[in-house]
Formats: sequence, C-alpha cells, structure tokens
Amino acid sequence: MVKNLVKTTISVIKADLGSLVGHHVVHPDQIACAEKELSQAKENGLIHDFRVTNCGDDLQLIMTHRKGEENPEIHGLAWEVFKKVTNVSKELGLYAAGQDLLSETFSGNLKGMGPGYAEMEFEERISEPIIVFMADKTEPGAFNLPFYKIFADPFSTAGLVIDPKMHDGFVFQILDVFEDVTYELSAPEESYDILALIGTTGRYIVKRIFRKVDKLLAAVVSVTRLSLIAGRYVGKDDPVAIVRAQYGLPAVGEILEPFAFPHLVAGWMRGSHYGPLMPVSQKNARCTRFDGPPRIIAFGFQIKDSKLIGPVDLFDDPAFDMTRMKAQEIADYMRRHGPFMPERLGPEEMEYTTLPQVLEKLKSKVVKK
Ligand code: F6R
Ligand code: MG
Ligand code: MG
Repeated sequence: MVKNLVKTTISVIKADLGSLVGHHVVHPDQIACAEKELSQAKENGLIHDFRVTNCGDDLQLIMTHRKGEENPEIHGLAWEVFKKVTNVSKELGLYAAGQDLLSETFSGNLKGMGPGYAEMEFEERISEPIIVFMADKTEPGAFNLPFYKIFADPFSTAGLVIDPKMHDGFVFQILDVFEDVTYELSAPEESYDILALIGTTGRYIVKRIFRKVDKLLAAVVSVTRLSLIAGRYVGKDDPVAIVRAQYGLPAVGEILEPFAFPHLVAGWMRGSHYGPLMPVSQKNARCTRFDGPPRIIAFGFQIKDSKLIGPVDLFDDPAFDMTRMKAQEIADYMRRHGPFMPERLGPEEMEYTTLPQVLEKLKSKVVKK
C-alpha cells in the first residue's frame, strides 16, 4: 500500500464577536464576512477548504490546511477574520461586539488572546470520518463525561470490547488549568485515576486522546479558559472539539451515544449556573430560556485530500428528541432552585464572575461585636 505522507490539519477556531439580540445568535452578515475572507485565503492557497457556521453567539471557522497545528499564518488569518467580523458587529450595533478579542495586537499565536481553538494534524486514512462538536453557554470540562464514555466505557462504546484495535484502550491527556500541567493516563488500567481528576470539570480538562496501540490521535478539545486569562469573567470559553471516527476508532454512533444523556454542565446564565447540555441541530443552537439551556451541535465530515466533504448536522435527528425533552425537564427542575446552589455554581467558580463585586459592598454591613 502506498502511504499518503501528506499531512492534513483541521483547525476549528471560534470567537464570540457580538450577537443578535443580547448573547443569542451570530448575524448572517458576520457569517458572510468570514466566508468572504476565507474564500480569499483558499484562493491564495493558505487553506485548502473551510466552512463557517455558528453555535449560538459563537462564530466558528472550520478550516483544513497543510501547515500543522499552532501555525502563525493560520492563527493570524483567524485573527484578521475576527477583526473584520467585529467591524461588522460594530456597524450593526450587535451586542458585545468583539467580546473575545482580548488584545489589540496579534503576536503569532491565539493562545491567551481570547478565541478558542481545537486543532489536529494527521495523515489521512483511506477514508477519514470526523465529527466537530461545538457548544454554547458552557465550558471545555463539559466534554469530560461524554469523552470518558466514548473512549473508556465499554457499556457505551461496544468497540472497546469487540474491536481488536481498540481493545487495548486509549491514553488521555488531562490539563490542570490552574497549575498548567498535563497528566497522561491510560484507560482501562488507570480509569479510576482518570475519573479522580476529570470529575472536577472546572479544573481538570480532557484535552487530547490517543489510541494506545499506535498513539493515533483520536480527539482534541479546546482548552482556552477565558475567565482565567482575563483575570475576571469576560464571557465563557464555549468549547469546541474534534473526534476521528471508525475503522479502529469509535464509530460515529458510539461517539454520539453519550450525548443522549443531557448531563449537567457549568455556564448557563452569566456563566454562573448549572444546566443540562442539550444536543440540537445547528438551527436550534440559539439559547433563549435563561440564556440557555446550554447547547451542543455536531457536524460530521469526511476529509479527502484536505477537503471537507459535508457537513451532516448529526443531532438533527428525532433519535435525540427524548434527550431534548429530558433536558427541558432537568432545566425546569434546576431553575426552581433560583440563586441557590447547586443550580448556582459553588463559590470557587463564582470567583471569576461579578459576584465578588457584590460581596465587597457587603463589607460595610458587617455588625461590630
Ligand atoms: C454570555 C452569556 C449570558 C450573559 C448574560 C449577561 O455568553 O452566557 O448569559 O452572561 O446575558 O450578559 P451582560 O452582562 O452582557 O448583560
Ligand atoms: Mg456572547
Ligand atoms: Mg457563546
């Protein structure tokens, strides 16, 4: 077999640059502006292909190229696109225009600049199915539970038991966002250690997953944490993730299966509440009730010679109707708690919101003993 030595990179780079009404949805003019810029970059040969979409108020640039991960030209392109889109937001008077552009100048890499990104470089297999997940009103730790199920739970992914290529398991890289250290742990042998970390979703985040037998890269998650970067709450780090599927990796259906459970995630309303993660079609990725409930969309592509074939809007399926109903029931139940925990986040997480400003004012109300 002749090996395809050309490597393809898929970069999903996103930012909230302002939206139509409040923190709701991206405006069609913002999408058109990004598409125009990326068409130009495709014509110039910088990127091979692209799609522009949105998940709620986050603009999503899905690009394929051959420049590798963390490439300054690709990050620079996204930065330029985001700046132009911000001009459109300002012209239209959209809400929170340019929210995620935290710096005035670009210095070669988007890390710590505000936008979130997930990137993956690989040699294309004979057929390369991938899924791009995009979420709104939540944080990267929202992927911890479903990704554990996809890559480590045989009750969810049958292939872990049945497929010899997956039978040895997967290696998880887990980032501690507070200490900025990365753990590498192996499932199934170290499953309990993995769970001991990733159950703390606001701190330990699954960032990369490899197949153990050959170290094949299987999944990546964006790990930007806006609140910590800015030192205060400036908007959520609504995450994206890329997962490769099939042929010795979890099947598309095995990758989607854990999302049939609408688990509770942080990020709903003012980044300060827990709500169920509701899988929806792209057109329903619009957070209304209490700015939520948090949404997730999944686009399926085949990649061929660095070109994107698709997308298929994978949650646009009645098979997820029950999940959506359940999510609404959970949303109702959680909302009844109002400002009380556990609907409202715990104090450690609230540190990065505006609550400390309110508490500061209360100091004058302390009764002297
Ligand atoms: C933003 C978000 C919203 C806002 C809320 C208050 O992504 O999720 O819930 O936090 O609408 O927004 P401001 O403070 O801009 O009025
Ligand atoms: Mg917003
Ligand atoms: Mg958002």
